[in-house]
Amino acid sequence: MLELLPVPPADPLWDLAAAYATDTRPDRLNLVVGVYRDHTGATPVMAAVREAEIRLAERSVSKEYRGLSGNLAFNQAMVSSVLGVTGLTDRAAAVQTVAGTGALRLLADLVRQTRPGATVWISDPAYVNHRPILEAAGLTVRTYTWLDAEGRSDPAGMLQDLQRAERDDVVLLQGCCHNPSGVDLSFDAWQALAGLAERDGWVPFIDLAYHGLGDGLEADLRATRMLATRVPEMLISVSCSKNFGLYSDRTGCAIVLSPSHRTLTHVETALQNIARTLYSMPPEHGAAVVTTILEDAELRATWRAELDAMRGRISANRADLVAHLSGLGHTVHAETISRQKGMFSTLPLSPGQMRELREQFAIYGTASGRVNIAGIAAPRIPYLAQGIAAVLARSGAARPAPSAVS
Ligand SMILES: Cc1ncc(COP(=O)(O)O)c(C=O)c1O
Repeated sequence: MLELLPVPPADPLWDLAAAYATDTRPDRLNLVVGVYRDHTGATPVMAAVREAEIRLAERSVSKEYRGLSGNLAFNQAMVSSVLGVTGLTDRAAAVQTVAGTGALRLLADLVRQTRPGATVWISDPAYVNHRPILEAAGLTVRTYTWLDAEGRSDPAGMLQDLQRAERDDVVLLQGCCHNPSGVDLSFDAWQALAGLAERDGWVPFIDLAYHGLGDGLEADLRATRMLATRVPEMLISVSCSKNFGLYSDRTGCAIVLSPSHRTLTHVETALQNIARTLYSMPPEHGAAVVTTILEDAELRATWRAELDAMRGRISANRADLVAHLSGLGHTVHAETISRQKGMFSTLPLSPGQMRELREQFAIYGTASGRVNIAGIAAPRIPYLAQGIAAVLARSGAARPAPSAVS
């Protein structure tokens, strides 16, 4: 049987990470995968997480199955922290998922079950897994403009493309810190988008993977909350991988908003049924950690302070890169990067230039130009800037518009 298996395409991101692992050059710099690293290059367990784990270990008495919705207290905590101030928590159904990816897939399956002909619109460029997850669920995918030719936000282009979204369609948006571009919409643009959703009836689907790492937790949730108050139905996938540093514990939540309580009950059952055919129940540990933190004022404050410190370090890294690129004469590119937010920035380099950066400077980013700003130790930033400047100088040309290469 297995000899009939066609050669599967390798995952480009993990392929690059594997290439980095065998690179022995002393200057090598791994900026491929989106994980936060501190000034020593380590991805630490957050102090609030460590303390929650100790408390859980002390009081744990059983590893009995949870229900299909996972940890109910976690789901409630997620709904409150995402929607909190909107007062919309009783309009929400939620199930715990296998991280943000699990939430994306569950919600994609829900869309397929309720609107089999729906098109899901994703940004161009998009998070590398959005299209495969949606297509694996049997959905049609189309793209809307995200960036202009200079790599800046293009709300007019986006709104123009989304004029073509139909009533049964779903529009997938990243709530903040857009992966891969680092480019976010202004709040005015989010409001214009909400107006379009209200007028045309399509359903917003918000992917929250980096809240707390852009402008601060509340600021990063502002657009999601505003949209939630304007539209009757909304889908939200939440990842705790980055903002709690729980990458390998696979912790996340799928939230659905509807004005009808009857609908919400059906939605939760439908999500449970989908989960049952995929993995049955999500893993408990990360959800228990997050719940322990969010339900305890002291631990919550510790976590918020750590999250703010991570955000501060990422901003400082980006500001430093911008300063060094400006110092090397690349003021236009530096200015573009200065407006980006969150863990990632998109460099003004083509796939060929990114390869050059890797081959000649041992600097690893993705072919689309994405680098993990949160993954650089501060003393390595001048080296990164010099590598970028050298590659730009050699080709004498800027990269093509980001949308053309993603
Ligand atoms: C935009 C976006 N959504 C969702 C995810 C899923 O994250 P996870 O499954 O690790 O929680 C990621 C991870 O990189 C992401 O960048």
